[in-house]
Amino acid sequence: MQLDPQIAEKQSIYKLLIGCVVPRPIAWVSSLSDDGIANVAPFSFFMAVCNDPPTLAFSSGRRAGSHKDTVRNIEYTQDFVVNIVDDALAEQMNLTSGEYPPEVDEFALTGLTAAPGVKVRAPRVAEAPISMECRVTQILPVGHGPHSLVLGEIVHFHIRDDLYNVSTGRIDMHRLHPVGRLAGNLYTHVHDIFEMKRPNENYVG
Ligand SMILES: Cc1cc2nc3c(=O)[nH]c(=O)nc-3n(C[C@H](O)[C@H](O)[C@H](O)COP(=O)(O)O)c2cc1C
Repeated sequence: MQLDPQIAEKQSIYKLLIGCVVPRPIAWVSSLSDDGIANVAPFSFFMAVCNDPPTLAFSSGRRAGSHKDTVRNIEYTQDFVVNIVDDALAEQMNLTSGEYPPEVDEFALTGLTAAPGVKVRAPRVAEAPISMECRVTQILPVGHGPHSLVLGEIVHFHIRDDLYNVSTGRIDMHRLHPVGRLAGNLYTHVHDIFEMKRPNENYVG
């Protein structure tokens, strides 16, 4: 099958793209509005960009031509928190993706606990195994629409104690149980982990 994205219909290209780039991690982004209303929503156009300084990026489309609540809030406070979704939180994550008006606090809606940020105004999801407090470094318009590519420097990590091995400095992948997004309504668990050593013997990642 050969497909030219320039002549295909937009929705079918979206379906193709999210089916090709899998599995995607989910940034469960919490933020605060100018009226002090907490917000949380999932974004799977999400990646780690660089480690020095630690920097994350996610991208948000628009709703009816306007910014989604998350981007509007982040433009105001210039900060946000990326929370990691584990198996236990998958249903609540899905509920927070509803297209609610700005005055709806998704923490209250889903029974999640909003814990105050240490270095940012945005709250974090207390139940999340990992939360990364970020300060905005850039918000770039990308493509038609346009999408907002939000880049943020991580200024504080919250990691559940049992997940972090202090001597190796690693997160325990057998305990984290992150959820990955596939396409449509499909997700994946991370329960089948294998090891493969790098050809470079001195690799320390
Ligand atoms: C797993 C998952 C991943 C999503 N990823 C994105 C994404 O990458 N970009 C986006 O614009 N919307 C994405 N959405 C939809 C948003 O979560 C949804 O539009 C939400 O209502 C935005 O909330 P807000 O208006 O409070 O910011 C995703 C939804 C789900 C369930």
